[in-house]
Amino acid sequence: MFFSRSKPLVGLDIGTSSVKAAVLKPHRKGKGFTLQNLGIEPLPPEVIVEGAIMDSGPIIDAINRVCEVARIKSNEVAVSLSGHSVIVKRVSIPSMSNEELAESIYWEAEQYIPFDVDDVNLDYQVLGDSADGDSMEVLLVAVKKDKINDYTSVITQAGRIPLVVDVDVFAVQNAFEVNYGLAPNQTTALVNVGAAVTNVSVISGGHSRFWRDLSMGGNNYTEAIQRDMGVSFETAEAAKCGKSQDEIPAEELTPILETVNNEMVTEIQKTIDFFLSSHSDEQLDKIVLAGGGSRLESLPGALGERFGCKVEHLNPFEAITVDERAFPKEALAEMAPAAVVAVGLAIRKGGDR
Ligand SMILES: Nc1ncnc2c1ncn2[C@@H]1O[C@H](COP(=O)(O)OP(=O)(O)OP(=O)(O)O)[C@@H](O)[C@H]1O
Ligand SMILES: [Mg+2]
Repeated sequence: MFFSRSKPLVGLDIGTSSVKAAVLKPHRKGKGFTLQNLGIEPLPPEVIVEGAIMDSGPIIDAINRVCEVARIKSNEVAVSLSGHSVIVKRVSIPSMSNEELAESIYWEAEQYIPFDVDDVNLDYQVLGDSADGDSMEVLLVAVKKDKINDYTSVITQAGRIPLVVDVDVFAVQNAFEVNYGLAPNQTTALVNVGAAVTNVSVISGGHSRFWRDLSMGGNNYTEAIQRDMGVSFETAEAAKCGKSQDEIPAEELTPILETVNNEMVTEIQKTIDFFLSSHSDEQLDKIVLAGGGSRLESLPGALGERFGCKVEHLNPFEAITVDERAFPKEALAEMAPAAVVAVGLAIRKGGDR
C-alpha cells in the first residue's frame, strides 16, 4: 500500500441478535494490533429475520448507541453479510488471461450461483492452476445487491460510511489467522455459531479451502424451548443462557438442548463431510468455535463426541494487545465469542476489496 491510513476502520457486525463494533489500532512497527474500542448492543427479536432487515430503526439506534458507549470516533466502517444471499465457492474454470477472466466471469459464475447474475455483486480471486493444467481454481464470492443495499443503507442512515463490505465467514477466518496463524499441516474447521446463521469454513495446508453458511444457530435452541415449554422468547433465551427460570425445570431443559445440539452437530457434520469427501487424504484435526451460540455449555462436548477431535474456542484477543484497565478480563471474556466477526472486520483496511 502506498498510502498508510491514519484512522483504522470500525469493524461493524450487524448480527441477528446484536450489533458489535470493534476498533483495532495497528502497531507502528511490524505486525500486531491493540484493542482500542469494543462494544455490543442487543437488538430486539424480529428486527432481522433470516438475514433480512425487517425494521431499520432499532438497528440504526443500536449502531449509534454501540459507537457512543464504546467511544468510537471514526465513522468509516467495514461491515459483513452472511446467510442465503452470500455464496462463496472455489470453482474450476478453463485457463484464461486476467483480461479474459474479467470479461467472462459473470458468464462463468452463472452456473455456480442460484441467483440471476444481474442481481449480485461478484468478486473473485484466482487461486492458481488446477492439477490437470488446463483449468484454474478461482474463488468466487457473490452477494445479492439488494442485501448489500439494505445493510449499507442502515449504516449510512446512522451517519457512518460503509467502506468495506465483507462476508462473515472471511471475517472469522481473518480473526483466526491474526491470532493463531495458519498451521501448514493441520485441517481446522472454524465454526461461528450466531443466532440465526452458523458460518463454517475449513482451513487446511495453510489455506482456506471451504466456506458454507448454515441457516441454524442459537435461536434454534431458544425457539425449541419456547415451543416445548410454552414460554416467551425472553424466558427461553434466559434459560438457555444458564439463568434458571421458575417455569423451566432443569430436567426438562436438558433434553431440549440435547435435541437441538444433535440437529446442529448433524448439520455441521454433513457440511464438513462434504468437504472431506472430496479431499479423501485429509482428516479433521480440530474444530475451533466462535460466535455467541458457542457459549452453550453442552455444544463443544457434543461436537467433540461426534467428530472425535479436539474442540477449542477462538479467542479473538489471543494475540491482540489489550489494556486490562480499559477492558477488564472478565468483561472481555464475556464479549469475546460474539466479537469474533467484528474483530476480523476491524483488521480490514479501507483500500481492501
Ligand atoms: N451464555 C450463553 N449460552 C448459550 N447461548 C448464548 C449465550 N450467550 C449468547 N448466546 C447465544 O448466542 C447467539 C448470538 O450470537 P452472535 O452474537 O454471535 O449472533 P449474531 O451475530 O447476533 O447472529 P447471526 O450472526 O446469526 O446473524 C444467540 O442465539 C444467543 O442466545
Ligand atoms: Mg453473527
